Amino acid sequence: MRLISAVDFFGVNFTPIWGGGFTNAMELAAIGRLILAGDVKRVLEIGVNMGETARALLEAFPQIESYMGVDITGEGPGSMHLSSLPEERAFADSEVGSLALHDPRFRVYMSFGGSGDYRPTTDYDLVFVDGNHSYDWVRRDTALAKTVNPGIIVWHDVDLCDVARAVDEEPEAVHVQGTRIAFVVLRDKAYAEKVMTGLAPDEAEDAGTRGADANLMDRLRAR
Ligand SMILES: C[S@@+](CC[C@H](N)C(=O)[O-])C[C@H]1O[C@@H](n2cnc3c(N)ncnc32)[C@H](O)[C@@H]1O
Repeated sequence: MRLISAVDFFGVNFTPIWGGGFTNAMELAAIGRLILAGDVKRVLEIGVNMGETARALLEAFPQIESYMGVDITGEGPGSMHLSSLPEERAFADSEVGSLALHDPRFRVYMSFGGSGDYRPTTDYDLVFVDGNHSYDWVRRDTALAKTVNPGIIVWHDVDLCDVARAVDEEPEAVHVQGTRIAFVVLRDKAYAEKVMTGLAPDEAEDAGTRGADANLMDRLRAR
């Protein structure tokens, strides 16, 4: 049988990182599809860890202009914002964002309370919620995400009961089958339609009978 490179097949280059990461190839592809269809330029990731997903997305999508990663540090006073996992806290001290810090578009916000302390000063097109996976924190991070006028909120790990319960409270949330990714498209109806079909309404008319998927594949090939 013939071998096709993953880059040629998916149209985006996830190869440097996929395989061992937090987000698998199909999940990166799902987020990538949202970035393309949603014309995403500014990304906020809550729970950025080493920056595996951040790096994969930054490398694959030159159109991303800025990427802010938020995580926790281990030092600080006792606080209700504490991560429940001490090992996450120790790890966070040394490694946060380390895989993506060479990229000038990438910045990190770290504090003892992580997203609990973070006060965004700008809007973001896509917010990736992947921090503390307890029900309360996912609700809280989702509320934070909604303050930055996002076009799209993406959640990871919806296979976890707490995360699923929190995401289920978003009536329009969509779970991408076969992945641990769910997302919701906000802003207006036209934007939602564009993201869901890969086409802006006027482009959809131009595309005639080609259909949404064909158009999305054309865009991927043109990259
Ligand atoms: C599963 S890892 C994230 C993986 C990363 N999103 C990726 O795809 O490469 C969860 C991260 O959330 C961080 N975290 C836990 N509580 C947090 C909080 N309150 N605010 C921000 N980050 C938090 C942890 O330190 C850890 O790095």
